[in-house]
Amino acid sequence: MANEDDRTVQGGTPDGQVTGVPARGTIDSGHDDPIGRPGLHHWRESTITRPGLDDRGSVFFAAIEMTRMPMILTDPNEPDNPIAFANKAFLDLTGYEEEEVLGRNCRFLQGAQTDRNAVAELRDAVAERQSIAIELLNYRRDGSPFWNAVFIGPVYDTSGKLLYFFASQLDVTRRRNTEQSYRQAQKMESIGQLTAGLAHDFNNLLQVVNGNLDLLAAVTDSERAKRYVAAAQSAAERGAKLTRQLLAFARKTRLEPRPVDLSHLITEFSDVMESSINKRVDLHLSLRRGLPHVVIDPDQLEMALLNIVNNARDAMPDGGVVTVSTLPLKLDEAEARELTAGDYVMLEIRDEGAGMPAEVLERAVEPFFTTKGVGQGTGLGLAMATGFVRQSGGRLDIDSEPGKGTSVRMIFPTARATLTAAEKDKPEATPAAPAPPSGYVDHVLIVEDNEEVLAIASEILTSAGYRVTTAGSGEQGLKTFEAVHTTDHIDLLFTDLVMPGGMNGLMLADAVIDRDPTVSVLLTTGYNEELVVNGPRKRATDVLSKPYRRSELLDRVRQALNRRGSGGPRRQRSDFGAAEA
Ligand SMILES: Cc1cc2nc3c(=O)[nH]c(=O)nc-3n(C[C@H](O)[C@H](O)[C@H](O)COP(=O)(O)O)c2cc1C
Ligand SMILES: Nc1ncnc2c1ncn2[C@@H]1O[C@H](COP(=O)(O)OP(=O)(O)OP(=O)(O)O)[C@@H](O)[C@H]1O
Ligand SMILES: [Mg+2]
Repeated sequence: MANEDDRTVQGGTPDGQVTGVPARGTIDSGHDDPIGRPGLHHWRESTITRPGLDDRGSVFFAAIEMTRMPMILTDPNEPDNPIAFANKAFLDLTGYEEEEVLGRNCRFLQGAQTDRNAVAELRDAVAERQSIAIELLNYRRDGSPFWNAVFIGPVYDTSGKLLYFFASQLDVTRRRNTEQSYRQAQKMESIGQLTAGLAHDFNNLLQVVNGNLDLLAAVTDSERAKRYVAAAQSAAERGAKLTRQLLAFARKTRLEPRPVDLSHLITEFSDVMESSINKRVDLHLSLRRGLPHVVIDPDQLEMALLNIVNNARDAMPDGGVVTVSTLPLKLDEAEARELTAGDYVMLEIRDEGAGMPAEVLERAVEPFFTTKGVGQGTGLGLAMATGFVRQSGGRLDIDSEPGKGTSVRMIFPTARATLTAAEKDKPEATPAAPAPPSGYVDHVLIVEDNEEVLAIASEILTSAGYRVTTAGSGEQGLKTFEAVHTTDHIDLLFTDLVMPGGMNGLMLADAVIDRDPTVSVLLTTGYNEELVVNGPRKRATDVLSKPYRRSELLDRVRQALNRRGSGGPRRQRSDFGAAEA
């Protein structure tokens, strides 16, 4: 019991039947539900003069039955402190009938995922007759979970004997879920930034490693040295693959989206999926015909899909069925969550495997989170898939329960009118590279802020017979161009996209084309946030992803030179016209 000083008479009747101890902000510590702020005036314990639950004639009883706040009384003088009264709102909240709850201890609301520490706090508070406010996971009669903000306080008679415990409950699930997804989103965002930065730097390092290995391979005749180089190259290749997955997670992959019918695409992939699962697992396809198109990068989808199908396979070591299905989907405001309401297409991969416990499910899409043994999983599969789906304007949802299998749903927006515009921006098909005109040596201006990467690119192009001029930033690149071009014609600008300083690769390319539209442009980047952010470009932009191999660079340079000036106004045709077949 509280000491006398705390005691206040509240709204007492003339004969002063009921007294209480105001909470004075002591109960709702840490959270501000359900009153919206720490409660000061409501009682945390009370003393009554008329015990018994039979007096139900007053307006106060009607109020208890009318309020939407669930309330109960338990009887601590009966064994196990059972419920002695429950109002209608409590029955609404929990889904039970009155006779199913009377006479039972409240712990029937608890279940598998209820935090045992929270239960212990309740137990201690009740044992010490302390009031308590706490949030814990409870379950309704139909088994559905809800977050319950429960408040409990003791009720005494005037002699200080404990008569009842009072409790009110409130479903705060929606608030908890919002908080949880907000925290998760923030965490993912910061991991994403970190990852993107790391991957960006790694790309440059791998570029240097690969470039030097390529050069080394070209100058050695020793078989042994060639073997060593090949081993190092294959390791660097794996590093590059890892980096690509990281970039996918960070939503910084260079996507090449096009409108596709998902059902068609899955049919095309089915052989690959089939071969990646083992004999004990059956692949079922349930593909809707005539789906609206979605705009996605098919290669990335294939990677994501394979990851998810492989997860399903791993979850079913004793065999089972993986069902891949597609169907159109309309999302309303509530279902859309972070997306906008409208038309979507859903791709679902369902398995009959072990399923995931809540703590695994919560972290499954985090990069490097894996429950598979060392060397078996990198934990990047779902991270990459999630990043890809989000970068494509969609959402990835996972439903999973231990023993009940898992279903992963990728939801993509259907193609919109803007698409036709984007389509026009696709680079034209590149013709096979004809031989360079004899006698003329093409002049390439390389702009790159990383010195080592610059040195490698320069070495590769020089050794292939090009004339090379270099610059270390966008501004310098433009200055060099202006100084050199009139006397020593530059045929190709090969520039990094992301560079420190005021001028990035795209701006430099625009400036160069403004001055001479016949100059070809080839961009390179480890990731191309800028390309995505800036939206569709005015003209086709050739982009070479880092890290690139010597042969790739040479191919792309050749192609870009062959398309000379296709970005600006067409070059004057020669008087003789071009030969045509
Ligand atoms: C008045 C009152 C209301 C309670 N309401 C809930 C409730 O809504 N949800 C819940 O999980 N536990 C509730 N409890 C707690 C359980 O009844 C029980 O005290 C708790 O599980 C700790 O005891 P145990 O370890 O013996 O189960 C309430 C307890 C009292 C006294
Ligand atoms: N279908 C599934 N059934 C059960 N658990 C799954 C399923 N899919 C994913 N998981 C769990 O999520 C974790 C993360 O999956 P993710 O695909 O990101 O990484 P991984 O499969 O462990 O490694 P990687 O895909 O890089 O080889 C897995 O380790 C596994 O615990
Ligand atoms: Mg995986």
